Amino acid sequence: MNDNNNKVFYITTPIYYVNDIPHIGHAYTTVACDTAARYKRMKGYDVHFLTGTDEHGQKIQTAAQAKGESPQQFVDRIHMKFRELCKALNASNDDFIRTTEERHIKVVQSMFSKLIEQGDIYKGTYSGYYCVPDETYVPENAMGPNKTCPDCGRPLTIMEEECYFFKASKYVPQLIKFYEEHEKAVMPKIRYNEIMSFLRGGVKDIAVSRTSLKWGIPLPNDERHVVYVWFDALVNYASAIGYLDDPEKFAYWWPHVRHMVGKDIIRFHCVIWPLMLLALGLNLPVEVFAHGWWTVEGEKMSKSKGNVVDPFEMVKNYGLDPFRYFLLREVPFGNDGDFSELALVGRINSDLANDLGNLLNRTLQMIRSYRGGVVPSLNGEKSDLSELSGQILERVDEAMNNYAFDEALKAIWEFIGRSNKFIDETMPWKLAKDESQNKNLDFVLANLYEALRLSALLVATVMPETSKRIWEQLGIDEDPVKYNYDSFKWGEGSGNKIGKSEVLFPRIDIDEWKKARKAKEEEKKLQESAAVIEHEEEISIDDFKKTEMRVARITKCEEIPKSKKLYKLEVDLGYEKRTVCSGIKAFFTPDELVGKTVILVTNLKPVKLCGVESNGMILAASVKKDGVSEKLTLLEPEDKSIPLGSRVS
Ligand code: MSP
Repeated sequence: MNDNNNKVFYITTPIYYVNDIPHIGHAYTTVACDTAARYKRMKGYDVHFLTGTDEHGQKIQTAAQAKGESPQQFVDRIHMKFRELCKALNASNDDFIRTTEERHIKVVQSMFSKLIEQGDIYKGTYSGYYCVPDETYVPENAMGPNKTCPDCGRPLTIMEEECYFFKASKYVPQLIKFYEEHEKAVMPKIRYNEIMSFLRGGVKDIAVSRTSLKWGIPLPNDERHVVYVWFDALVNYASAIGYLDDPEKFAYWWPHVRHMVGKDIIRFHCVIWPLMLLALGLNLPVEVFAHGWWTVEGEKMSKSKGNVVDPFEMVKNYGLDPFRYFLLREVPFGNDGDFSELALVGRINSDLANDLGNLLNRTLQMIRSYRGGVVPSLNGEKSDLSELSGQILERVDEAMNNYAFDEALKAIWEFIGRSNKFIDETMPWKLAKDESQNKNLDFVLANLYEALRLSALLVATVMPETSKRIWEQLGIDEDPVKYNYDSFKWGEGSGNKIGKSEVLFPRIDIDEWKKARKAKEEEKKLQESAAVIEHEEEISIDDFKKTEMRVARITKCEEIPKSKKLYKLEVDLGYEKRTVCSGIKAFFTPDELVGKTVILVTNLKPVKLCGVESNGMILAASVKKDGVSEKLTLLEPEDKSIPLGSRVS
């Protein structure tokens, strides 16, 4: 993240496919970019942060069809979810681009024309194995077993089409040279090595048009083709900052562009895109950082497994800032990680409620009790904490420049831990009892106040709202996110009048949480089994009329010694009493049943069950799993005064 030329920083997320609703993977890249953007702003940089949606291609066309909508209607509707996600995550993006916008379409077409004119795009025929859902041809040596896609495992189909090709191979030596000279252009190192060995293995020309689908940007010279979705999508980074319409704006931001992406799309960003840029005569991105992937409680996240983590739900259940903190703290950026709600709850309780929350509470309480709520003076002396603060600022800076968010947070929490220890060591409550220790107590309280002022400032990039709330409690009016890190000076808070205290992060009771989660899982299971609908064959109204159902009241209930499931019931139909065996023992006690008004099927042939003759059947609704009822409720007439024996139809 170093940029010594001048203080300009342009950062992008990938543009998200709108064939699906947002999940934690999308939230992750957005939060990481947002944090990087916020950091640079607080370091005095001019920052442009771009995100958006990728709205063309086969996946979208198929998803729209499945919903019975036109692709345009579909993308207009779903892309809003990604805008809402930005809001829900408090992302500070300066722009949001959609690939269906005019400003983008004309740039794609213009770049395409330029490459045709200069002979870097030519017409040919393409034939190969194609993965329809992933929209990529798969080279034969990369196919999975039985000609499947190496990425998603689905079967490949042979495709042959007239196609326009981009002369990617021509620019490969130039790209290798660039990477040799710019080792930080692809990060982390493992991805740099991966890209270098891929490039050295040779790159074929790339098919950049399709005739097989309609939902895309038409080629400027040949309307039968649409632009390959990745060519289209990558261009967003240039079209959003005025490549065509606003050359000045483009020239300002472009030399400072850096992309953050998931490791799965690194070849598109570190091979295809730079080759396109070389052909177009544009600067290459300063950095591309590839982060890892999240699994969920040890498993790959997938719709079919039903374990997709919904970021909106996480924010609703645990709060935005704790969620942002967890995403960036839990896993070293660049590595894969495992998401678990229990781990999130653990971090809330230990790091946030305990470490940070307690430091704030204890400090403010002491300033209130011992100094009437006014921050005393430092007396110009240095403390362990003031010395450490300088080191922490440097460590955080270095970590943030390397996108090592977890390292930055670790450094901040070391400082918070040290500050909590400082309270235990200096024991202000003892100093307060001794008049002669007045100055010492001032010194301790002022240092603690400064430690909090700095800690809040340092967490502002990850937890902007929390940071503001802490400063409010410290009695500082300013919004920390507008503060410049370099202007922080230890001791400037002396004389401040502290504000009202409130709990920052309420502790979550783990036992209660586990209970609630278990109940939720059971509820979900029940809903899932209820959703398995098995239909009977169609019957006529006359068939239905053959079933005689009447209102009855249960008047007696007895156990049947031989049966675990059945009760022997006496039911009163008004005009007669009957004996009925009913398999509802698991759900009711005899006391609960006697007196209930129910619906009885009265014209069933009598059967003998466990030695008892049953003359009818009581109606119930149930959720079954593997043929066994897991939940059951009896059907009862709404108005219990309806006469017994009334017919149900
Ligand atoms: N539309 C393309 C990007 C085009 S950029 C010119 C795309 N979109 S995506 O919606 O499928 O993925 C967007 C990002 O989400 C990718 O960076 C991807 O790595 C990331 N993630 C998707 N699932 C993920 C996890 N389970 N974990 C972390 N990130 C993951 O690709």
